[in-house]
Amino acid sequence: MSPAGTPEEPAAMSLPEETKRKKDPARRKKLLRRMLIFLLIVAAAVWKVMGLLDNSYFVDTFYQIEDEKIQNPMRIVELADLHLNEFGEDNIELVEEIKRLKPDLIAMAGDMINQDDPDTSVVVTLCRQLVDVAPVYFCYGNHEKQVIRVEQTSTLNLELEELGVHVLHNRYETINVNGNIIDIGGLSANPGTMEAEYTQRFWQAYLQTENYHLLLVHYPQYFFSNGELLGTNIDMALCGHLHGGQVIIPGKGGLYHPLEGFFPEHTDGVWQAENTWVVLSRGLGNHNKVPRINNPPELVIVDVY
Ligand SMILES: [Fe+2]
Repeated sequence: MSPAGTPEEPAAMSLPEETKRKKDPARRKKLLRRMLIFLLIVAAAVWKVMGLLDNSYFVDTFYQIEDEKIQNPMRIVELADLHLNEFGEDNIELVEEIKRLKPDLIAMAGDMINQDDPDTSVVVTLCRQLVDVAPVYFCYGNHEKQVIRVEQTSTLNLELEELGVHVLHNRYETINVNGNIIDIGGLSANPGTMEAEYTQRFWQAYLQTENYHLLLVHYPQYFFSNGELLGTNIDMALCGHLHGGQVIIPGKGGLYHPLEGFFPEHTDGVWQAENTWVVLSRGLGNHNKVPRINNPPELVIVDVY
């Protein structure tokens, strides 16, 4: 009742403020547009992250090295740290690419297998195909050394030799590549263990020759500052082991290796360490808990002329 005693008019029904806003078509359109932009940003971020984590393909990296000891150009294809990875069935994508590159020799710089997996058929199958492309030279990484030499649970070396692969376990061969006389060696010793007698026997004989010295050695640390092989007459060393630092930080390089810690001195590329051109592959696979991020598997091609 009103103060005057007349019946009160029913109050006009009014929607709550929030409901009004929802029904405002212009506002709803704006909201939808914002949601759409947000979803697109999230999708792009997911796409980008997926791309950074995509290790299902490999990239070619080319290096050119000039050396007066080399009379006629030669092409080396280096594979390292495959860790039983496969690119297509029986590694057909890798084999086809190597065929296309027409190498004069193929170098495998260790860790092609995983020491905790006795099935090494991926590497045997790969080598069976590659020996028909060019001569294949193979040195041990820490994984091969562990199962072939330390545990003696694998006969991979014998299987590869049967296929015609040149397994270079602390030994070298003198070969002729396009008229260039090359002493190609493989060093299996871990850094810090060079003084072992069997390593020394090979090493002293190897370094005495005058030929071009091409060394397959898994560990690039031999050529880091204060490395044990600095100042030797190795002309070129083909290395792996560091997997490009697992995570590549744009503008900064490889982040980490379990044995080397954060930001190792080198994680990939080519550099001159006193007398030696060091070629460091980022590798073709992985065996660490840390995934490869922004670090696609890499096939290295070195043209020496
Ligand atoms: Fe490795």
